[in-house]
Amino acid sequence: KPEFTPNVKWPMNCTIGPGLEGAIVCDTKIGYVNGSKGWLIYQGYDIFDLCAYSSFEEVSYLLFHGKLPSKDELVSFKQKLNLYRNIPQTIRQLDSFNIEEMSPMASVRLGSELMRQQLSHRIEEQVQLLYGGISADEDSISMEIEPTGGERATYEFESDEEELVDSCYQCIAGLSSIMGAIVRLRAGHLALEPDPNLGFAANLLYMMSGKKPTPLEERVMDICLILHAEHGINASTFATMVVASTLSDIYSSVGAGIAALSGPLHGGANEEVVKTLEEIKSVDNVKPWYKKLKEENGKVMGFGHRVYKAYDPRARILEPMAKLLVNDKPQMQEMYNIAKSIETEVQEDMGQEQKIFPNVDFYSGIVYKSLGIDSEYYTPIFAVSRISGWTAHVVEYLKKNRIFRPRAIYVGDYLNEFIPIEERE
Ligand code: ACO
Repeated sequence: KPEFTPNVKWPMNCTIGPGLEGAIVCDTKIGYVNGSKGWLIYQGYDIFDLCAYSSFEEVSYLLFHGKLPSKDELVSFKQKLNLYRNIPQTIRQLDSFNIEEMSPMASVRLGSELMRQQLSHRIEEQVQLLYGGISADEDSISMEIEPTGGERATYEFESDEEELVDSCYQCIAGLSSIMGAIVRLRAGHLALEPDPNLGFAANLLYMMSGKKPTPLEERVMDICLILHAEHGINASTFATMVVASTLSDIYSSVGAGIAALSGPLHGGANEEVVKTLEEIKSVDNVKPWYKKLKEENGKVMGFGHRVYKAYDPRARILEPMAKLLVNDKPQMQEMYNIAKSIETEVQEDMGQEQKIFPNVDFYSGIVYKSLGIDSEYYTPIFAVSRISGWTAHVVEYLKKNRIFRPRAIYVGDYLNEFIPIEERE
């Protein structure tokens, strides 16, 4: 658990680099990542405390409401999620597609689209545009930009916020049922109905495997869901917010988040990590494998981060969990040892100078594998959790919505002469 020092100030002067590095897109109270200190904070609460004392449901409530729920509030929030887990029509529709031939992430995205068709609440029906046009932040980048002019857009938000938040809850609960159904259907089984007696994490495991989890399995999954729920303006959260800022609906916005998360540089890395560990097979092969990777200028999946230049606190929590879980599983023990050996190699090579440390994706796969989950489902599980952060950010951002519209520095030609197609070489 890190030592916090007060009065952390936002970097008010920033230089924007490729990949929007250094760009500030909004202010937020939802999540804070301090990359140099290795802190992760949700609504003022340290991730270590949330993992130790909280649950995914409580954390989701916190992300939306900015405070921990009272006992009664938590009970009614859980009841709501329980109710919204029941999406039989969406699951039937999903079953009519050949999802065995699609990637699990594409199936999850399809599921969110099917939920939209069934439940659709268009954001534009919930927020009323009073007046549009916007003034550009003239000096934000040092290039010539013609001013766009206009006045700041304002939205009548308060009255509709409750309805939008409710749609978000539907998304969060619905996506976990979709996930359970995808795992079952792809294995040739019938999808299961959610169990109202189980909490979010236990029900997710049950709907995927058909078995009620042990208390340890439930707690491990709960912690994984808490750890993945929120992480500031990462690529998938930003993608979700960009779509929502156009006043598209919440389901389409979530679909964009799922698409962004699926890439190997983002959420897709956890699956790649386990594939790599399986390929390496033994600790003895780590050094030659690493040497070859470096010669080919390859990246070690599960290492490095745009923001963290210290050890990712999520990896700090997942690593001992992985160690604990592989204890009585000899094959998994070797996988864990390979991972530790890779960590040593990378630390010695790039840890100090380049500040490259394990990220959340490095040990999560070992944890999921210990729970008996196939690697193709690790990134979808990430989505089932991160949807809380995605949608909480949408709700917060829409209060002061302004469509995202960055600029590029044009480096192309000017005034080319148009040559008719018959005359072109
Ligand atoms: N392995 C080897 N070298 C790395 C790694 C890595 N995993 N990550 C960064 N580096 C090196 C780069 O080669 C580069 O070196 P150079 O300056 O000599 O060219 C330097 O560190 C900076 O790397 P960038 O890729 O420019 O950093 P960026 O901030 O753009 O990317 C990212 C961050 C995408 C996470 C990167 O570290 C990476 O590709 N990691 C592997 C994939 C991964 O684990 N993704 C999951 C991230 S966590 C998440 O999204 C949930």
